[in-house]
Amino acid sequence: MLLINDLARHNGALDAELRTAIDRVLQRGYYILGPENQAFEAEFAQYLGVTGTVAVGNGTDALELALRTLQVSPGDEVLTVANAGMYASTAIRAVGAVPRYVDIESQSMQLDVRLLDAAVTPRTRALVLTHLYGRMADVEGALAWARRRDIPLIEDCAQAHGAMRDGRRAGSWGDLAAFSFYPTKNLGALGDGGAVASNDVALLERLRSLRQYGWSGKYHVGLAGGRNSRLDELQAAVLRAKLPCLDGWNARRREIVQRYRAGLVDLGWQLPLPPGEDDVAHLCVMRLAARDAVRGALAEAGIATEIHYPIPDHLQSVAAPGTALPETERAALSILTLPCFPELADTEVDQVIAACRAVAAELQA
Ligand SMILES: Cc1ncc(COP(=O)(O)O)c(C=O)c1O
Repeated sequence: MLLINDLARHNGALDAELRTAIDRVLQRGYYILGPENQAFEAEFAQYLGVTGTVAVGNGTDALELALRTLQVSPGDEVLTVANAGMYASTAIRAVGAVPRYVDIESQSMQLDVRLLDAAVTPRTRALVLTHLYGRMADVEGALAWARRRDIPLIEDCAQAHGAMRDGRRAGSWGDLAAFSFYPTKNLGALGDGGAVASNDVALLERLRSLRQYGWSGKYHVGLAGGRNSRLDELQAAVLRAKLPCLDGWNARRREIVQRYRAGLVDLGWQLPLPPGEDDVAHLCVMRLAARDAVRGALAEAGIATEIHYPIPDHLQSVAAPGTALPETERAALSILTLPCFPELADTEVDQVIAACRAVAAELQA
């Protein structure tokens, strides 16, 4: 089976470097918040061009701790999209706040900034802007809007490590930015991991405290609402070994998307936009009317696909009834993710293209 993201191949290509990193931690005997964490936080901050990063347990914790740092509280509302896998919604609910959803723009499938005015209320306390599928959302538009309203902006960069616009990386625009290092991410650990980035020293300080019980110093709790959410040393060492490869991996992902675009251009499907520097092609997502038939035929041909994501957050069984989001709902019925990871060979991309073309021809016949 051709996987959409073959992690054994991905990490296998870096086997020696990963073993060296893991051995270093084993020999040192320091497993939580040690020198690997400190070094990774500094190296990742430098890569992003931000003042600092704080490593945490996973990407959902990164979002939750960012919200806690901004003192988002029960009864508050947080603006976000409903097509990003429920992660932001989970974090918003975890602090007792309520997600208020903004519909997406149909071509990019990112938050439609033009709809923010209609969604804001006096209880809005933050905006979580997700850079979905690896492509940067309209962060300039969202930031300008948020600044006018004095509403803090949190970027969700879990799918956009390394994306850059006007010389500035995703994660360096908002007040805070959340990253996930879940193994499938463009920068993935060998387990769970996450980080929060910021240019604001005071916010970084609060985060550092909140990720570890609210400690102001060892065994002294200075902040309420603390958590235990730390990155272990093994994962920090793995991430340090992988970070220098990130830009190269992202470039290869863009090539793959371009190859899909060239091979599928005449099928009448909505293809991903041409990937520039601001798109790290985390997921290669198409939109097509006969999605389920194509998906079934590709599975029979030994090609795995996925739907990111099948159920919009506002339609999940745990969601409170809210307003309709027509574009989000339409997208969920037509999106399909094709295999895309740096080690995917051109011949394999061509195999997927041929299989897509064969099923499209069959459906037309
Ligand atoms: C857009 C987005 N936000 C947040 C997360 C949450 O990250 P994690 O799985 O590390 O909690 C993910 C990925 O899983 C994601 O894709």
